[in-house]
Amino acid sequence: MKVARTIDSVRKLIANAGENCKKVGFVPTMGALHRGHVSLIEKAVKNSDFVVVSIFVNPTQFGPEEDFEKYPRPLEDDLKICKDNSVNLVFAPPVKEIYTEKNFTWVNVEKLTETLCGKSRPGHFRGVTTVCAKLFNIVEPDIAFFGQKDAQQAIVIKKMVTDLNLPIKIVVCPTVREPDGLAVSSRNKYLTDDQRKQATLIYKALQTAEKMIKQGIKNPQTITEQMRKTLSKQPSIKIEYISIVNTQNLQPIDRIGKKNLIAIAAKLGSTRLIDNIIVDLSK
Ligand code: PAJ
Repeated sequence: MKVARTIDSVRKLIANAGENCKKVGFVPTMGALHRGHVSLIEKAVKNSDFVVVSIFVNPTQFGPEEDFEKYPRPLEDDLKICKDNSVNLVFAPPVKEIYTEKNFTWVNVEKLTETLCGKSRPGHFRGVTTVCAKLFNIVEPDIAFFGQKDAQQAIVIKKMVTDLNLPIKIVVCPTVREPDGLAVSSRNKYLTDDQRKQATLIYKALQTAEKMIKQGIKNPQTITEQMRKTLSKQPSIKIEYISIVNTQNLQPIDRIGKKNLIAIAAKLGSTRLIDNIIVDLSK
């Protein structure tokens, strides 16, 4: 496995991979790799000939009050995980390699970034799409892997790729969970033992919604009210949003349809967690 710090060296290493490089698979990450990231890497290894993982804590997607500085950066552990999982190349650039002092060019996907997490994290998705556009231009993958855990991010990236005519296939992989249902996340490390226990209610609330939809309840508000009740069992969980939205345009729906995205963002202390499920009645 090779590790590159510069754009030049990534480009050269991919170009030199030659025969092995028929189909380049790419997994962009911010490091602190866990089983969720590994599931994406495994999928990439199965579906491509040369797998590139980027590890870059992207400053432009963090708000001024967010955890950019304290975001975990266990690079040596991350490199071992990549190596053990047959990654061919890790791109771990310093910030100055990706952003010149004055970055004047931004990629922004409209509409889809104005709902859900976009409301409370202004500029977040602009940072995500800008860095992904840069990384896509550097790595030039045939196929890139994202997690359903960040449902809105995956939808926004798909739209960016379509709108910018990028020749990249986006594959969305299922959310990896802890045995008690909590979605695996780099931010789970911030939770105290007590908050960690309470956090399991997030997935329970999503399961409540799924059950209600499968029972035939069609009014989204009846469902979100019940989800609020489930979460209110722990008053220290502060709900940011609970939304049932259309999976294409991310707009709230008036009536449960065939395919419904149910999404939650909540804070436990200063840790913000998100989770979601898709309930597809046509399946
Ligand atoms: P990061 O949070 O490191 O996540 C990298 C990828 O792993 C994302 O596609 C995310 O959805 C996926 N992922 C995280 N937890 C997961 C889980 N429990 N199950 C399945 N997949 C999971 O998302 C980012 O980084 C950044 O925004 C990035 C796209 C790298 C741009 O900076």
